[in-house]
Amino acid sequence: MGHLSTLSIRKMKGHSKIVCTTAYDFGMATLADQAGVDLILVGDSLGMIMLGYQTTVPVTVEMMVHHASAVCRAKTNALVVIDVPFAVASHSFDYLLDACSRFMQECGADAVKIEGGEEFAPTIARLVDAGVPVMGHTGLLPQRSYVLGGYRRFGKTPEEKEQLLRDVRSLEKAGAFCVLTEMICHDIAHELRDAITVPLIGIGAGQDCDGQMLVSTDLTGLTQGPVPSFAKRYANLGDEAKRAFAAYAKEVREGIFPEKTVKIEKKP
Ligand code: KIV
Repeated sequence: MGHLSTLSIRKMKGHSKIVCTTAYDFGMATLADQAGVDLILVGDSLGMIMLGYQTTVPVTVEMMVHHASAVCRAKTNALVVIDVPFAVASHSFDYLLDACSRFMQECGADAVKIEGGEEFAPTIARLVDAGVPVMGHTGLLPQRSYVLGGYRRFGKTPEEKEQLLRDVRSLEKAGAFCVLTEMICHDIAHELRDAITVPLIGIGAGQDCDGQMLVSTDLTGLTQGPVPSFAKRYANLGDEAKRAFAAYAKEVREGIFPEKTVKIEKKP
C-alpha cells in the first residue's frame, strides 16, 4: 500500500471504514502505521498526554512542530494530519498560514485539522485555496473547554443538531476533505454523515460515522490520567511497562542485572 492521500481518504466514504488514531512521536507513529491505520493525527491532546497539562490550551505551534516532525520521520503509509493549536486559527490569516506552512514544509505533514464549525468556513476556504488540505472538527471542541467549563456531549437539543448540520455542510463547502465530530449524540451521527459527501470521522460519536478516531494511548492503555468513557482499551501496555520497570529495579537492587562479566583467560 502506498502513502494515502486526502483523495484516498475521501474515496473510502461508503466503501470501507476509515481507521484513525493519534501519535505524538516516531515510535507510536511507526507502530500504528505498521498495524494499517489509515490516518494519524498529531493531536494537540499531546499537551495532556505527553506534557502533563490539564487541557490542550497551553499547546503552541512550536510544540506541534517538534512532535509532528518526529511523527513524519516515521514515513508512514497513513495520512498524517497536524492539529492547529489553541487560538491560532482565530489569529490573522497570515499567522495561521505561516503555522500551516511550517507543518507541511518543515514537518512534512499531509494536512491540518482546525477546531470549529461554520464560523471557520471562510478561513478554511482560503487555506484550501492556498494548497493546505484541512480536516474539520465539530461537536465538542476541547480548545474551548475554558468557555464551556468542561467537556460535554453535543447535539442534544434541536438547535444544537441544526448547528451541527450547518457546521458539517459549511466545512465541506469550504473544501475540508473530511470532518471529525467529537462527543455528539449517537442518534444524529447518520444525519450528519448523510448530509455531506466527504467522510465523517467520529470520536465518541457512535457507529454511524464513516470512520473512527481513538487516541493511541487510550486504546493501548498508556494514558496516565483520565480516559474518556467512550474509549475502548485494546491492550494494557501501561501495566506491562510498570511491571517491566519494577522487575528491572528489583534486579538492579539485588545485583542480578547486569550479569557478572565472565573473565576469559588469554592464552599465553
Ligand atoms: O487532539 C486530539 O487528540 C483530538 C482528538 C479529538 C482526536 O483532536
